[in-house]
Amino acid sequence: MPSDKYGYTFGVLTLSDKGSRGEREDTSGMMLCDLLRSEGYVQQEYEVIADQADLITDRLSSWVDEKEIDLILTTGGTGVAPSDVTPEATLSVIEKQVPGIAEAMRAASLQVTVNAVLSRGVAGIRGNSLIINLPGSKKAARENLEAVLPALQHALYKVKGGKADCGVPKSE
Ligand code: MTE
Repeated sequence: MPSDKYGYTFGVLTLSDKGSRGEREDTSGMMLCDLLRSEGYVQQEYEVIADQADLITDRLSSWVDEKEIDLILTTGGTGVAPSDVTPEATLSVIEKQVPGIAEAMRAASLQVTVNAVLSRGVAGIRGNSLIINLPGSKKAARENLEAVLPALQHALYKVKGGKADCGVPKSE
C-alpha cells in the first residue's frame, strides 16, 4: 500500500447561512483545511454555502463525479435545528455508509461533552470518494476529525480499490 497519504486530495464544504452571506468568518472550514494540509493531504476545493439540501447535494455530487476529490469533509448542519439538513443531503448522494466513522466520532466526542449526542453526522462513499460530516463549531469539528484522522489514509486506500491485505506492516 502507499507509504504515505501524499497525493490524496480533499475538499472542505462549510454549511452556514451566515457564512455564505459573509456575515460570519468560517473558522471551522479554514481550520480543517490547515489541519489536512499539515497531514499531507492536497487541498482541491473549499467553499462556504448555505444550509440548503439542493446546494449541498449539488456540490457533493460534482466534487465527486467531476472533480474526483478523494476526501470531502463537510462542517455544519449536523444538529437538530430545523435548518440542519447536511446528513440528509449526504445520505442522498452516498452509495454506502461507513457507520464506524460516525460512531467513533460520537464516542470520542461524548468524552468531551454530552452534547455530542446532538450531532447526526454520517460518513459514506460515493464512487471512489469518502465523505464525512463534521459539526459546525471549530472546536467540535477538530475534536470529531481527530477521532478518526489516523484511519483515513487506510480508508482512502481501500475506498480507491487498494488490494493490499489489511494488517500487513508497511515494511513487508
Ligand atoms: N462534538 C464535539 N466533539 N464537541 C462539541 O463541542 N458540540 C455538539 C455536537 N458535537 C460538540 C460536538 C453540539 S452543541 C451540536 S448542536 C452538534 O454537534 C451539532 O452541531 P452542528 O449543528 O453545528 O453540526
